[in-house]
Amino acid sequence: MTPAAGCPAGRTTPAGPGRRGVLTTAAVAGLGLGGCSLTTGSSTESAGSADTVTSGATAAGAATTEGVQPFRATRQPGIRGRVQPFAAFVAYDLAKGASATDVRRILRIWSDDIERLMSGRPPLTDPEPELARHTAGLTVTVGVGPRIVELVRGADAVPAWLGPLPAYPQIDKLEDRWSGGDLLLQICADSPTTLAHAQRRLTLGVRSMAETRWVQRGFREPLDTGEHLIGMRNLFGQVDGTIQPADDEPVFIGAGGPDWLRDGSSIVIRRIRMDLDKWEQVDRLGRENAMGRRLTDGAPLTGGAENDIPDVDAKDALGFPVIDPGAHVRRARATTNTERFLRRPYSYDDGTGEQVDAGLIFVAYCADPLAQFDPVQKRLAAKDLMNIWTTPIGSAVFAILPGPGDGESLGQALLA
Ligand code: HEM
Repeated sequence: MTPAAGCPAGRTTPAGPGRRGVLTTAAVAGLGLGGCSLTTGSSTESAGSADTVTSGATAAGAATTEGVQPFRATRQPGIRGRVQPFAAFVAYDLAKGASATDVRRILRIWSDDIERLMSGRPPLTDPEPELARHTAGLTVTVGVGPRIVELVRGADAVPAWLGPLPAYPQIDKLEDRWSGGDLLLQICADSPTTLAHAQRRLTLGVRSMAETRWVQRGFREPLDTGEHLIGMRNLFGQVDGTIQPADDEPVFIGAGGPDWLRDGSSIVIRRIRMDLDKWEQVDRLGRENAMGRRLTDGAPLTGGAENDIPDVDAKDALGFPVIDPGAHVRRARATTNTERFLRRPYSYDDGTGEQVDAGLIFVAYCADPLAQFDPVQKRLAAKDLMNIWTTPIGSAVFAILPGPGDGESLGQALLA
């Protein structure tokens, strides 16, 4: 019997028994998963047991778990801290007619599978357990869209910020194929193989209840030291991600937000096309002027080093501002303490080299996108020299769930 014949069948009937409950002895034997506790239908019961750990790892050999991040923590991984070089952002639509029970099942299945994958153990029914053993710093971060909250807790429970952002008509050319969604997985890893494996397993694990809406794959160059936790060079050659909120600034949701989102966050994903052909026609001075920072090292045009704050009041010998009134850093910098958010961008390139289809998957984490992100985006939409070369073509907002405690699934508080 092939693994596929016995195992995933349980996933095609949302109302049917849990997928672990439908595994037959023959299927278990065929998968080398003997010894697992598979008959309960509950993902959390089998999730972290020593038996399941050993059986998966024994069949596949020892896991290589360098860079393993904790799955069970107050906050989900993949937000603050080191940023891995490869990412996939995958948005899903709930299947037609899906219920709150389906949401519960999806979050239980994902909790179980993510915990396994992040610790180097194959999910149950994984036909390629060897691929799960190399964790490569894998993090999976789970978000929900407004429809999920409405289904589970009612329309009144949907936070005002959880939905499409206000329109930015001066710049937006949004396409449906890169926008919206009911569920989100942000999957990041040091290895594209680990990432691809996790994406496939997590998508197939819920395929009867949710279908993929869009996938955005991103990359950034590997970082050499721990010093630049966030920084990278984007495809315009600029050092990107330098200025970030301080540790005590609101990236996570605190007492002011809904209880079920305490220690969660929000993610704004904007797919921004970058016109490399047009950019390359501009001389270096013009390119640096548009940003307000040097291309060589990312330092402000007013001097200093990358991590220094641009002096927007500085004037040159003729009395003109050193940082152009339309420069990106001048327009984007926070004008109040409430306008700060964490940026975690990735580049994308789906072009041929000659035909350009490249840009930035702009990713912002904050406690409230309407209060923190929107004022900055409004200023940039009204005036930003970078708008000459950049066009937002996708936009989505999700609520990032708090991390699961011991014995919990993701979304425990949402579903309570
Ligand atoms: C393709 C589009 C974009 C590119 C290429 C880009 C690039 C950059 C670069 C190179 C910097 C300077 C270094 C740094 O602090 O990271 C920067 C700063 C910044 N950008 Fe962008 N950015 C883009 C879009 C956006 C968007 C959509 C927003 C928010 C709505 C934004 C918000 C910011 C903020 C807040 C800063 C820090 C400003 C400061 O305090 O100095 N950027 N960006």
